Amino acid sequence: MRLSSDLSNAIEGARREAGAKPYSILVVDDEEGVVESLAFALEDDYHVVTSTDPNAALGLLEREEFALVIVDNIMPEMSGVEFLKRAVEVRPAAVRMMLTGQANIDEVVRAINDGRIYRYISKPWEPDELRLDVKRALEAYGLASENTQLASALAVANEKLRAENLFLRREVQGQYSFENIIGASPAMQRVFDVMEKVAQTDATVLITGETGTGKDLVARAVHYAGSRREERFVAQNCGALPDTLLESELFGHKRGSFTGAHADKKGLFEVAHHGSIFLDEVGETEPGMQVRLLRVLQDGEIRPLGSSDTRRVDVRIIAATNRDLKKAVEEGRFREDLYYRLRVVEIELPPLRDRVEDIPALAHHFLDSACEQMGRKIEGFSNSAMDRLAAHVWSGNVRELENEIQRAVALAGDEVRLHPEMFSEEVRGATSTRAPRVSGRGGDSGLPDETDLNLAVDQLKRAMIHAALEETGSKTRAAERLGIPRQSLQKMIKRLETAD
Ligand SMILES: Nc1ncnc2c1ncn2[C@@H]1O[C@H](COP(=O)(O)OP(=O)(O)OP(=O)(O)O)[C@@H](O)[C@H]1O
Ligand SMILES: [Mg+2]
Repeated sequence: MRLSSDLSNAIEGARREAGAKPYSILVVDDEEGVVESLAFALEDDYHVVTSTDPNAALGLLEREEFALVIVDNIMPEMSGVEFLKRAVEVRPAAVRMMLTGQANIDEVVRAINDGRIYRYISKPWEPDELRLDVKRALEAYGLASENTQLASALAVANEKLRAENLFLRREVQGQYSFENIIGASPAMQRVFDVMEKVAQTDATVLITGETGTGKDLVARAVHYAGSRREERFVAQNCGALPDTLLESELFGHKRGSFTGAHADKKGLFEVAHHGSIFLDEVGETEPGMQVRLLRVLQDGEIRPLGSSDTRRVDVRIIAATNRDLKKAVEEGRFREDLYYRLRVVEIELPPLRDRVEDIPALAHHFLDSACEQMGRKIEGFSNSAMDRLAAHVWSGNVRELENEIQRAVALAGDEVRLHPEMFSEEVRGATSTRAPRVSGRGGDSGLPDETDLNLAVDQLKRAMIHAALEETGSKTRAAERLGIPRQSLQKMIKRLETAD
C-alpha cells in the first residue's frame, strides 16, 4: 500500500537524521578560561561552540540547532537560571546543564525540579565524569528528538490517511447520490420526495420492492444524503446466514461463546455506531432474531453472544425486503411489533413494468457505464432496439435491464449502435404490448413483424450478418459464410448502421 510505504520512508528518514547528525554543544560562561577548558574536554567527540556573552549566546541558540547547552550559573549580565528559562523558549528540546559552585546549590536544585535543568556540574569538575554526564544527557536527547521526529512523521502520515479517507468517502458519497438514481416517472418522483425528507431524519426506514428495483441503491443514498454521511454505512444480508452466525455478525460475540468463536468479535451494530446499518432481506429472519432486532429498535441496546453486559449503540436502521411483510405478519411468520418498528417510514420501489417511461433513460445510463467499463464507443440504440427494451417485461426489474445491456455491449464489437439482434433471446423475442402490432403476422407464419419489405429485408440482413460475425469472429470469414465478397459485407454493414 502506498501510504504505509510513505510512512516507513518518513520514519526511516527521521531515524537517519536523528542518528547521523554530530551533536552540537553550546557552552556559555563569562570566564574565558572556563569555556576553554570545557571545550577542550568535549571537542574530540562533539561540535563545541563557546560564548562568554549570554545575550549573544541566545542569538546563536536561535539560529543553530544545539543538542546540549552548558551554562554557568553566575554571570554578570544574567544568571544561568534566567538564561536557561529563555533557552527553553527558543529550543525546548535541547538538554540543559548548569555549572555551579557549592554556594548556590539550592537555587540549582529548584531549577532541576522545575524541569529546566537536566543536571548540574559542580566546579571544579572531573573531565571523565563530565564526559560521562554529557554522553548520558545526549543519549536522552537522541531519544527525545527521535521521538519528536517520529511523532511528526506519524502526524504527517495520519493527516494523509485522513485526507485520503475523506476523499474516498466523498467519492462514495458521489456514487450513491440521488443523481445516480434514474427515474423521471411520477412513481419514482414520489420515491425521491420521501427519500429526501427521510434522509434528514434518523427515522427507521423500510424499503420494499421486488428484486432488482434498487433497494440497495436507495438505502445507501438515504445514508449518504443524511447527517450521518461521514460515518459508516454497514450492510448485512439477513437471509444469507444461519441464525447463530447472523446473531454473531450483528451483535458480536465473546470468545468461546460457540464452537469456532476463537476471539472476541465486535458486531456490526457496534461497527456502525453513529452511522447506519442496512438490514437487507429482513423478511428472512427467524423468530429468535426478530426478537433481538426488536430489542435494539426499542432500547438502542445490544448484547454480544455469550456476554452478560449490554451496550448502547447509536445506529440508524434501514431495512429492506422483497417479501410482502404485511402478509408475512398476517400469516404469523413475521412479528407484528417488529414490522411496525421497522416501517416508521416505508419506501416502496415500484417494479419497472409500472414505470416503463424510465426505461430509455435507464438504458442509456447503463450503456454509458458499460461502455466506460469495457472501453467501447457505442452511441445509442437503434429504434427497434429501444422498442424491444420498452416492450420486454422485466421480471428482474432494473438489474435485469442492466445485465441485458452489459451483455449487448460486450457482444457489440465495433458497432456504433445497439441493435435488437444483440439482445438475449428473451428480449429479442419480446412482443410489444404498446407499439402497434401487425395482427396475423409474426410467430407461426415465420414472417417478420415488419410490414415494409425493405425494412424487413434489412432486419434479416442485420441479423444474419450479426450472427455470422459472432460465430466466425472476423469480417473475412463472415463474408465467406454469407457467400458475399468482403467489400460488399463492409458496405452493407455501413449502410445498415445508418438505415435504421
Ligand atoms: N433507479 C435506478 N437508477 C440507476 N440504477 C439503478 C436503479 N435502480 C436499480 N439500479 C441498479 O440496478 C441494480 C440492482 O439494484 P439493487 O441491487 O439496488 O436492487 P435490489 O432491490 O436491492 O435487489 P434485490 O432485492 O435482488 O437485492 C444495481 O446495479 C443498481 O445500481
Ligand atoms: Mg438488494
